Amino acid sequence: MREHGILRRALFAYTEAVLRLRGDTAPVDAGALHRAAMLFRTFGEDYHERALEEAHIFPVVRTLPGPAAVYPDVLTAQHERGREITDYILGATVHGMVGTADREPMARAMDALVRMYRAHAAHEDTRTSVVGNRLAFQSRRGGGVAGGGGLFTAWLPACDCRRDATGRPVTNR
Ligand SMILES: [Fe+2]
Ligand SMILES: [Fe+2]
Repeated sequence: MREHGILRRALFAYTEAVLRLRGDTAPVDAGALHRAAMLFRTFGEDYHERALEEAHIFPVVRTLPGPAAVYPDVLTAQHERGREITDYILGATVHGMVGTADREPMARAMDALVRMYRAHAAHEDTRTSVVGNRLAFQSRRGGGVAGGGGLFTAWLPACDCRRDATGRPVTNR
């Protein structure tokens, strides 16, 4: 999907930010990260995921015979994990700076999102496609969700995307 290209651009920003967060103590442009997270939220999560995939594509895939029918459950779980991580990034960057204690938790959260979403988008790009006005689902012979997609389906990233009552990140998974 061409829309994934926009999301990949935000993921590139996250990848660079992870390197900087872990590489030295120089300030990280929290405003730029916040804007990237807002792009991911408004275009990626609210429009692309909710208004397009979850509303129109996944319901069709669920009606298909075979293992494809459970595929949207995996993709939706990854959408939800991504939203948790975006919540965390937005919260951690809202004040215009990344605190010292937040650097490594934020790096882990963004790294997790990048890893998950690269696989997520690649599978959506190659397993589902719209041909004319029909949605086609491609699964490998003998594989499908349980086999060929096993590595993909099994993985939801751990993240520090929740915070305790004092606002500190909490490792929850
Ligand atoms: Fe998706
Ligand atoms: Fe997608």
